Amino acid sequence: MKIIMLGAPGAGKGTQAEILNKKYGIPTISTGAIIREAIKSGSELGNKVKAIIESGNLVSDDIVIEIIKKRLAEKDCENGFILDGFPRTVAQADALYDMGISIDKVISIEVDDDDIIKRLSGRRECSGCRSTYHVDSKPSAKGDDCEKCGAPLTIRPDDEPETIKKRLDVYHEQTEALKDYYEGKKILHKVCGSNGIEATTKSIVAVLEN
Ligand code: AP5
Repeated sequence: MKIIMLGAPGAGKGTQAEILNKKYGIPTISTGAIIREAIKSGSELGNKVKAIIESGNLVSDDIVIEIIKKRLAEKDCENGFILDGFPRTVAQADALYDMGISIDKVISIEVDDDDIIKRLSGRRECSGCRSTYHVDSKPSAKGDDCEKCGAPLTIRPDDEPETIKKRLDVYHEQTEALKDYYEGKKILHKVCGSNGIEATTKSIVAVLEN
């Protein structure tokens, strides 16, 4: 199964991808997570993109396409994968097509901008294993520490209020057009992402298993 998770920043792509990864045993590939790891490690790539990601803008198409090409060539992607955060522009979607990859389903998680702002303001990320929490909807059983690995929870630098607004603008200007792109290929499925994590998973599983 080859799946793309589409949706605004904070729509729940990462949360749902993690659940689907466990349910179906296929890897999740998050370009955002790969880029954040590169920044953390202080690599050449990380230093190049740090300011861009923290401003809420998109990293250039060439860089992310190269990241995806390398990652999809790995053995664990042979039986399918979940793309979380890629493609984000029509040029990236074209590049994926040109790689000869045939996507089965594109899930667009639909959430209003006002809800997105509330969600991202309450998001916390584990500084160790990168698990995601929310102060209201998904608190850690260990308070300010990760319930899985015990490392402290942090706020992502791009979850500052001004950056959230910028990321939403970028989504509407550059990424939302992908809904028409995949609608045209008859593989787009919209699901409501405003009804809690479990309800959203139920809707996605119904799409994937029908
Ligand atoms: P990326 O890491 O992909 O960020 P994003 O798309 O902005 O998405 P988020 O991770 O913020 O949100 P999400 O939809 O995964 O929501 P989550 O599940 O965490 O990218 C970051 C940056 O990297 C980009 O801005 C760009 O600079 C760069 N980048 C990455 N890919 C790129 C590409 N292809 N091209 C160019 N640049 C690229 O949930 C959010 C919160 O809500 C959590 O706290 C969660 O617990 C909670 N929550 C989730 N679902 C629900 C629900 N149903 N009800 C209530 N709460 C919920």
